[in-house]
Amino acid sequence: HELSPFIRAMDSFARQQGRHELPWRQTHTTPYGVWVSEVMLQQTQVQRVIPYYLAFMERFPDIFCLSCASWEEFLPLYRGLGYYRRGENMLACASQVVKFYEGEFPREKKALMALPGIGEYTASAILSFGYGLPHLAFDTNMQKVFGRYLHGNRKAKVDKVSVENIISREEVDMARFNGAVMDFAATLCQRTPHCHICPVKTHCCYARHSGTTEPAAVTRL
Ligand code: ADE
Repeated sequence: HELSPFIRAMDSFARQQGRHELPWRQTHTTPYGVWVSEVMLQQTQVQRVIPYYLAFMERFPDIFCLSCASWEEFLPLYRGLGYYRRGENMLACASQVVKFYEGEFPREKKALMALPGIGEYTASAILSFGYGLPHLAFDTNMQKVFGRYLHGNRKAKVDKVSVENIISREEVDMARFNGAVMDFAATLCQRTPHCHICPVKTHCCYARHSGTTEPAAVTRL
């Protein structure tokens, strides 16, 4: 089917150009660490999040620690990321996970989405990166990539459930795939995409019909 070349390309993209060094992508990262990083990444760029994430994990290494924190203890580690609403949700979420789930994030999407501040994307990220379960972390970047690849338009409606089902049927590690698409979106399939150097340009609906061709774009990489 049409996604096979894309899935294979993401696998080698992950191997060659994946941002494996990101602190929340390390093998020891727990579902808690994934959650902390995803909340921070919702509002702030990757490079800016790194020092906040590291300091936060040092101060609150696990969810029990965080669930006991007062707002006054929490704020210095979060100040600068803005959006205090998200910070409030974070504290509320930590105390619910401790109170109702003995400190372990549930492995079920619906249960995760019932927690404060956790939407479908964050739930899928926790399940795939944190638990190795086959959930597609479908955010605006993934929308853009699949919209272009499948329909030639970054805003085209993507049937997320079918894509998730197809990828689950292939022997693909979904965490690796999710990470690869994020890195691909950040470095090649950007708002102005670098189609001329894209590994899937011969299969991509957008690249075939209206893709950018000017090699000058390379300078922006
Ligand atoms: N790795 C895991 N989640 C990520 C995100 N939201 N942005 C960039 N890299 C990530």
